Amino acid sequence: MKNTVKTFAKMKAAGEKISMLTCYDYTTAKLEEAAGINAILVGDSLGNVMLGYPDTLSVTMEDMITYGRAVARACHDTMVVIDMPFMSYQVSASQAVENAGRLMKEGRANAVKLEGGAAVCAQIDAITAAGIPVMAHLGMTPQSVNAFGGNRVQGKTEDAAQQLLEDAKAVERAGAFAVVLECIPADLAARITKELTIPTIGIGAGDACDGQILVYMDMLGMFSDYTPKFVKHFAELGKEMKEAFAAYDREVKSGAFPDAAHAFGAPAKD
Ligand code: KIV
Ligand code: NA
Repeated sequence: MKNTVKTFAKMKAAGEKISMLTCYDYTTAKLEEAAGINAILVGDSLGNVMLGYPDTLSVTMEDMITYGRAVARACHDTMVVIDMPFMSYQVSASQAVENAGRLMKEGRANAVKLEGGAAVCAQIDAITAAGIPVMAHLGMTPQSVNAFGGNRVQGKTEDAAQQLLEDAKAVERAGAFAVVLECIPADLAARITKELTIPTIGIGAGDACDGQILVYMDMLGMFSDYTPKFVKHFAELGKEMKEAFAAYDREVKSGAFPDAAHAFGAPAKD
C-alpha cells in the first residue's frame, strides 16, 4: 500500500518508527522499495554524492527533476520526497510554489522538502495551500553551510536549543507534515519530538526521533570523501565494488572473460 502523509501521522501516533533513505536512481529505488523503506528522499545531497560538488549550493531544479523522476518511476508503495534546491524557494512564497509544483509535475514527487524554520514559514504555508505536502528540515541545514561557517552540530547552547524548538513549532503550525532534524544533540531532538504532533526524522539526532534517514551511499560504505560520526555502515559495498571492478579488469586483460558461457554460439543451420 502507498505510504503517504497519512501513513506518517499514523505511524507517529502508533509509536512505530519511520524508515527513510536517500536515493537518486531507478535501480536503487527498486531495491529500497523491495526492502520496505517507508519513504525515499531524493536529497540535494546528490550534489555531493552524484555530482561531486563540495556542497549542495550548485544543485539545480533540473538536477532534482531528472533524478527525482528516475526514483519516482521505481516507487509504487514508497513515498517520494524531492528536495527543493538552494534558491528555488528562498526568494518568495510564489516562486517557492512554482518550483514545488515543478517537482510534483515534472519530478513526480509525492512531497517536497525545504530547509529552514520561521524564515520559510510563508513558503510552507503557500506550498501546502497548493495541495503539496511539505517536509521541513532544521538543525544543520547544508544549504546554509556558509552562514554556519562549516558543517557543525547545531542547538548546543540553551538559546540555540530554544530557537530550534520554536522553529520546529513554527513549521508545524505552517503546515509541514514532518520535519528532518539534522546534527543536533539527542536530548534536544527528544524534546522536539515530544512537543510536536508531526513526526521528526533524525539524522545525527539520536534515537528518540520518530524516524531516521541516512544518505544511502554512506550507509552502504560507498562514499569515502568524508564519514560523519552519525553514519553507520550497514555494508561495505565500496570495498566489494572495488574488488569486483578489479576482478573484471584482471579477467579482461588475461582473456578469462568472456568465456564460452558468456558468448553466443555459431548460427544454427536450417
Ligand atoms: O539531501 C539530503 O540527503 C538530506 C538528508 C540528509 C536529510 O537533506
Ligand atoms: Na538535502
